[in-house]
Amino acid sequence: MKKLAVLVSGRGSNMTAIINACEQGTLSASVELVISNNEDSLALELAQEKNIDTCHLSSCTHADANLLDIAMQQVLASHNIDIVLLAGFMKKIGPKTLSAYKGRLINIHPSLLPKFGGQGMFGLNVHNAVIDAGEKETGVTIHLVDGEYDKGAILAQTAVAVGVEDTPESLAAKVLKVEHVLFAETIQKIIDGSIILPAN
Ligand code: GRF
Repeated sequence: MKKLAVLVSGRGSNMTAIINACEQGTLSASVELVISNNEDSLALELAQEKNIDTCHLSSCTHADANLLDIAMQQVLASHNIDIVLLAGFMKKIGPKTLSAYKGRLINIHPSLLPKFGGQGMFGLNVHNAVIDAGEKETGVTIHLVDGEYDKGAILAQTAVAVGVEDTPESLAAKVLKVEHVLFAETIQKIIDGSIILPAN
């Protein structure tokens, strides 16, 4: 059984979808640890209700970025984490954690990367930009994390049609629904070997 850590910042609906998939057995893994850079995130509360170990790690807990990076690497190692999922995590991963979990750090992004990714492209900013650009479709991307925002190898994508009636909010809701399915499905494919991650 693969051990997952989920990194969050906010409401944690993707984290919840992953936990549910583990509980229902559609994802043969267990969420062992939830890390948030935001002490007040709903996701932390939800994880605690599920008796999952949680940890707040940010510049508030570690002013020195190097020490923050070391703390993250250590807490992941102490939980024997196999795969780290970024589900709305708002901070860059430090170089030590990146190298310790190279090819095992996976992010979900609410657009069809490489479109509408990079710094500042989060939340409604993404969906606003999609509508402003007159796109006929958007979607969800699951990708490996490297040192740059939204640039790592793409593992899976699902398209979502943009309707003329769509607002950024309605589009966000449609995309989020797909996120909840695609994230768990993709992680299961990694676990059962139908998606092969690059070797460490
Ligand atoms: C999702 O849209 C995800 O794609 C992005 O951040 C959002 C997190 O939402 N990276 P939630 O906290 O999982 O509800």
